[in-house]
Amino acid sequence: MTDTETRQSKRAEQFARLAEVISSRKGERGALMPVLQEAQAIFGYVPQDVQVAIAQGLDVPLTEVYGVATFYSQFALEARGEHIIGMCLGTACYVRGAQKILDRLSQELDCKVGHTTKDNRFTLNATRCLGACGLAPVMMIDDEVYGRLTPEEIPGILDKYKGQKAS
Ligand code: FES
Repeated sequence: MTDTETRQSKRAEQFARLAEVISSRKGERGALMPVLQEAQAIFGYVPQDVQVAIAQGLDVPLTEVYGVATFYSQFALEARGEHIIGMCLGTACYVRGAQKILDRLSQELDCKVGHTTKDNRFTLNATRCLGACGLAPVMMIDDEVYGRLTPEEIPGILDKYKGQKAS
């Protein structure tokens, strides 16, 4: 089986599981939230085609599914990368140039904030205060904290993660 066929058959199996979840909850009051949670557990995120399947299956407007999926931060709308970058945009970091670091990250990764790189290696997020203001500007990659950053350091830091899987 080719990689594409394997992916397609995995996806078909995931949709079959989602259909079972939907049919077991259909007609139940407040079914949308638990179905979205199950969908996220099955797929790892809730992309648009999954939202459409849920809307059709539960017979609710797609706008309602999208509204709930985007309102709660527990739901990811696209696949998460192997490494999660959180650049702090809290006040202390912001006044010490966090936006410039974030811009450099976005440029180096060719990825907008809130999204995942095309190779699925990194997800780039802006965060609130990480509780390490003394080290501002601060970013986290997975569980690792990087403080007193300058934009020039970013390429070297990212290089460490290229080719390395998250633990
Ligand atoms: S504001 Fe960035 S760590 Fe507190």
